[in-house]
Amino acid sequence: MEMKISERMKAFGASVFSELVAYKKAKMAQGFDIIDLSIGSPDLPPPSFVRETIAFYASQPDTYGYSLTGTSEFYDAVASYYQTEHKVQLNPNEEVVCLMGSQDGLVHLPMVFADPGDFILVPDPGYTAYATGIAMAQAEPYFMPLRKENGFLPDLREIPEEVAKRAAMMIVNFPGNPVPALATESFFQEVIEFAKRYNVIVVSDFAYSELYYEGHKPISFLSIPGAKDVGIEINSLSKSYNMAGCRIGYACGNAEILKVFSQFKSNLDYGVFLPVQKAAVAALTKGSSFCEESRNIYQSRRDLLIESLSSIGWEIERPKASMFVWAEIPDGWTSLEFVYALMDRAHVVVTPGHAFGPNGEGFVRIALVQDEERLAEAVSRIKQSGIFHLPSFS
Ligand SMILES: Cc1ncc(COP(=O)(O)O)c(C=O)c1O
Repeated sequence: MEMKISERMKAFGASVFSELVAYKKAKMAQGFDIIDLSIGSPDLPPPSFVRETIAFYASQPDTYGYSLTGTSEFYDAVASYYQTEHKVQLNPNEEVVCLMGSQDGLVHLPMVFADPGDFILVPDPGYTAYATGIAMAQAEPYFMPLRKENGFLPDLREIPEEVAKRAAMMIVNFPGNPVPALATESFFQEVIEFAKRYNVIVVSDFAYSELYYEGHKPISFLSIPGAKDVGIEINSLSKSYNMAGCRIGYACGNAEILKVFSQFKSNLDYGVFLPVQKAAVAALTKGSSFCEESRNIYQSRRDLLIESLSSIGWEIERPKASMFVWAEIPDGWTSLEFVYALMDRAHVVVTPGHAFGPNGEGFVRIALVQDEERLAEAVSRIKQSGIFHLPSFS
């Protein structure tokens, strides 16, 4: 059979990520012990009460039908969580939509709100799902550079007028992946003004809202006056409660946006498994001390990594939030060369910054997804590899 592959599929070639995974697997097959700091999936389990809730409801005979949408119990739990955590009032009946993880929202929203050729404004570097959604909608990305000198916040004044006028959506992500930056209130106010001026829907990806350190609590976009007029926030239980494989998240905010989006979703899927929704309710209502413990674990890992890398001459800024370290690499390397050299010489895997967009070149992303012992081992191997003393490739 001669298989026809759609034009659209051409936008989904093999990614750097799959090449790295193949290389890593080949190394493992050769018997090397690989320390993988490249994946953004938490290594720790969800709280025991969450696992027990799933187990209980999964054993009930009446939880296996289509759920179709979020349950009202789930929507109430999201609304009271936002009220408690962010002082944001949400109407649970109209202002929350249940998602199969935030990815579900991020990749599908552009198909609902952008036509081919429309611009979607995305952070550069930014999380890779944004590009997927844009490609599915056959829209155009417009990269908003995140530069160190601007606190890794986009400079909206740099967006050309003709791009702004053709923009359908803007995606913002603070705390970010791969750049663990935090938004300020004044930045979000600028975003709202921009969105109103150019009629742009704002999507705030808040997947790392619970991972912050030393009291730098991330600001919910929806807590800024006027935000609900222009946008929504997407949040997830994947990182906050280590439920990444147990797919559930939600979009909340502007009711009109969510109404159209729900209509689209009702054509796509039949909702999240009810025991998972029950578990999410438990997590959102009883999970605050668990989140505190998680933050302490990530913070200790962060400190160990940053301090021990500093002791071998790799100075990296200490992130205030998220589960990632965004590390500038030594001059003379591309981020991909550096990543392969690290894998070959230290058997440590990190992610090259350019995989997240052109402005990621010169950086690697290190995920804090191993315990302190493995992180210390990774640093000791990096030290022994002598990578900082090698002549560069260029
Ligand atoms: C910034 C960001 N948003 C969204 C997601 C998707 O998370 P999930 O679909 O598990 O909620 C991720 C996952 O790594 C992420 O890093």
